[in-house]
Amino acid sequence: MKIAIMTSGGDSSGMNPAIKKFVEYSIEKGYQPYFIYEGLEGLIDDKIKKASFKDVSGIISRGGTIIKSSRSKRWYEKTYRKKAFENLQKKGIDAIIVLGGDGSFKALEIFYEEFGIKFMGIPATIDNDIALNDYSIGVDTALNVIRHAIDEIRDTASSFKRAFVIETMGRECGYLALVSAIANGAEMCLIPEAPYNLETLKEKYLKDIKNGRSYFIAIMAEGLNLTNQIKEWFEKEIGFEARSTVLGHIQRGGNPTILERLRAAEFIKTAIDNISQNPNKIVTYYNDKFILRDLKEIVTSKYQLKQELLDLARDLMV
Ligand code: F6P
Repeated sequence: MKIAIMTSGGDSSGMNPAIKKFVEYSIEKGYQPYFIYEGLEGLIDDKIKKASFKDVSGIISRGGTIIKSSRSKRWYEKTYRKKAFENLQKKGIDAIIVLGGDGSFKALEIFYEEFGIKFMGIPATIDNDIALNDYSIGVDTALNVIRHAIDEIRDTASSFKRAFVIETMGRECGYLALVSAIANGAEMCLIPEAPYNLETLKEKYLKDIKNGRSYFIAIMAEGLNLTNQIKEWFEKEIGFEARSTVLGHIQRGGNPTILERLRAAEFIKTAIDNISQNPNKIVTYYNDKFILRDLKEIVTSKYQLKQELLDLARDLMV
């Protein structure tokens, strides 16, 4: 059997350990591994090459993806998808493994419906917004990058009387902001999925200031698009000088944490063990177990933040 791997959409740390395991485990199982370079764009342009041990030596500690990624507009035109299918056929590739997020799985759905190519999907996105899945490759490293950034901002915040408003990535999903706020002792956390009340927060903060609070750390999910407004709110309503920091793409980099490397290996092993007999599934990590789910179930469901996490952060929102 010939199997190919592709990374698609926003890269995330942990993709490289997954690629390394893919090559090594495929060979162990007697499969011929291939790389599809540059995601969907490379699939269309036939950037598909055989992979060997040599290609993956020394990559385990590197962020990003050595096979590169892309977001493809051309994919949504059938002629290009047909070309992509023909490229796979030409090389006799039987199945593909796709590391990516929601958008990549939707792209895969159309491809599968039209051409029936066997696939396995593995959640890989710092946004952690895949339905029915608790952990996507890249999340743990992103959370650690954010932790470092907040620790460093805290050093300066605690030396002044200031509020620091820090924006995390995540598109429409507030997971990174929520976990970061809880785990890094923030005073405020605003995310798209939960209601907030600036009046009650104001009351609380003014009381805190009377009791000696000298700085604030506020974590904002990018999906709310309120970072500047909240900075101004601190200045006008709380009377604190404020600064904002948009963490941006540093959250996508960094060398993969141990958890990331371990999960990447487990995701890949589960995908390859099932690719021949039980294909066309998304491998999810849910309630501490790997579960194979139908693509349809994933793309038609909505990711939901765990209630226990929301409860832990309630007092940072209202
Ligand atoms: O999906 C991953 C992500 O990093 C989002 O959190 C962010 O909104 C987006 O990608 C940024 O996209 P780009 O790298 O294309 O600017």
